[in-house]
Amino acid sequence: MQYDLKEVSEKLKASDWKERPLSVWRYGELLPILDESKIVTLNEGGTSLYKCERLGAELGMKNLYVKNEGENPTGSFKDRGMTVGVTKALELKAKTVICASTGNTASSLAAYAAKAGLKCIVLIPAGKIALGKLAQSMMYGAKVIAVKGSFDDALSTVMEASAQLKVYLLNSINPFRLEGQKTAAFEICDQLGLNVPDKMILPVGNAGNISAYWKGFKEFRSLGIVSNLPNMIGIQAAGSPPIARAVKKKLKRIEPVKNPETVATAIRIGNPISWKKALNAIYESRGTAEIVSDEEIINAQKLLARKEGIFVEPASASSIAGLKKLAEAGQLDKNDVVVCVATGHGLKDPDIVVEVCEKPIEIEANLDSLNKVLGI
Ligand code: F0G
Repeated sequence: MQYDLKEVSEKLKASDWKERPLSVWRYGELLPILDESKIVTLNEGGTSLYKCERLGAELGMKNLYVKNEGENPTGSFKDRGMTVGVTKALELKAKTVICASTGNTASSLAAYAAKAGLKCIVLIPAGKIALGKLAQSMMYGAKVIAVKGSFDDALSTVMEASAQLKVYLLNSINPFRLEGQKTAAFEICDQLGLNVPDKMILPVGNAGNISAYWKGFKEFRSLGIVSNLPNMIGIQAAGSPPIARAVKKKLKRIEPVKNPETVATAIRIGNPISWKKALNAIYESRGTAEIVSDEEIINAQKLLARKEGIFVEPASASSIAGLKKLAEAGQLDKNDVVVCVATGHGLKDPDIVVEVCEKPIEIEANLDSLNKVLGI
């Protein structure tokens, strides 16, 4: 990247950053932006880190936090990457941006492209993205193309297209996306009082985000802002677990999954593009990976909503499902400071709620009918 860590380190030493909260420190110093006047922003980042005492008690964890990335402008962590990626697209004088997506990348790119006045094309796996995400991309004015195939098929198509059609590719293979996403790690250190968690637990799909967090934590440590690093733990769904499977077998490569399938459509990915970086993050941090079933994901989604009032989409709940599984297997210390990343808002996927929750009860508008259904 264009910035020089050494230079930033010198600036940090010379500045008064220790006297002021890091939230007012300009993370921008650590982002590869050349022209600040071109920054495309919707006020992303600055999301809550909730201390989850009721959920923690249920799972036997004393220091459990959830980083709620659903609070971002389009409802997912993708906005952190898109502010940098789309700003870069402007710097590079691109006119059209493109991505393949399981839904959230598409929504986010569509919004930032709209703000930047760029044309936007998104390719999604036909019939396999959550309704809220489709609605967002359509409303933000992107050209939405449904590919008969999986996310992996859509991604290889856009990679070919970007090589031939002079459109700027904004999947997470674009390094500027990950630069933006690493700011979530900065914020967590900041929110924990310049400490790192013992364990970071994240859902893994195309494997960019876990890699971005790891980069962020390492940068803060090399700048002397924090002194430790967390163990990075990646969670995947049972129907699409190429990375978790490799970690469990201690392999240095993944074997792609041919027909990935899971209720967590955001991470329904068989051949993740950033697998190498993600394996590196997990191995280098002495972390691990876990595989969770669709049933475990839905139960975790309900548990998080009902114990903490945090409504997330299924992919995000996989981090809670993974935590539960690891805690039950005795792989975590009850005093560990654990941060689970809730990557996307629950309203993204209303269909799943209708499927898995108790239906509303219809009654006549009188007290007798109400008493009857309440059993009073
Ligand atoms: N959680 C959510 C809600 C996501 O949308 C994604 C990825 C992930 C987790 C996994 O992150 O890919 O960096 O490992 N969604 C992409 C998309 C693939 O197209 O929206 P990752």
